Amino acid sequence: MDTLKALATRKSVRSFTDEGICFEDIKRILTAGMSGPSCVNMRMWSFVVVRNKELLGKLAVANGIYAAPLRGAALGILVCGDLERIIPEEPDFWVVDASIAAQNMVLAAHDLGIGSVWLGCWPAEDRVQEVKELLKLPETIVPHTILALGYPEKPNMTERDLYESDRVHFDEW
Ligand SMILES: Cc1cc2nc3c(=O)[nH]c(=O)nc-3n(C[C@H](O)[C@H](O)[C@H](O)COP(=O)(O)O)c2cc1C
Repeated sequence: MDTLKALATRKSVRSFTDEGICFEDIKRILTAGMSGPSCVNMRMWSFVVVRNKELLGKLAVANGIYAAPLRGAALGILVCGDLERIIPEEPDFWVVDASIAAQNMVLAAHDLGIGSVWLGCWPAEDRVQEVKELLKLPETIVPHTILALGYPEKPNMTERDLYESDRVHFDEW
C-alpha cells in the first residue's frame, strides 16, 4: 500500500473477526517495529507477543478498562523499553524508540489488512506494574504500549484528511 494512503486510511480498530494472524505476518509486523529510527541506534525495545486467549483477557484486566479490545483480538503485542540499552546521558529516549516501534507496527499491520488499536500503558504506574507482573517481565523491561491486533470486523478504507492549518507555524510561531 502507498505510504500516504496507509496514513490517510488508518483508523483505530477495536472489533475483530475470529481469524488468527499467521506467524509470517506477525514477523512482518515485528520487523516493521524494529525498522524505525532509534536513539544512537541503541534499539531500546523488546516485544512480547500474547496469543493465548486467556492471557489476553488477563492483560485486558491488567491494563485497565480501556484495554477491553484485547478480549476480541487475535493477539496483543506489548512494546517495552529495555533499560539495559539506555544511554546515561539521555535516559528517557527509550520512550521515543518504543513509540516509533509501535507506530511502525500499526502501519505495517494496516498494510497487511490487519486492524489495531494502541493501548497506552506507560507511564500509568498501576498498569505498568500489573502488566509487568502478569507477563513476568524482568526488572529492566518497562511495558510501554500494547497493540491489540486482528482482522477488522468492519474493514474501512475511507481516506481522512486530518490536516489542521492552525497547528502549523512556518519559520516562527
Ligand atoms: C498514547 C495512546 C494511548 C491510547 N490508549 C488507548 C486505550 O487505552 N484504549 C483505546 O481504545 N484506545 C487508545 N488509544 C487510541 C486513541 O483513542 C485513538 O488513536 C484516537 O482516538 C484517534 O483515533 P484513530 O486512531 O482512529 O485516528 C490510545 C492512543 C495513544 C496514542
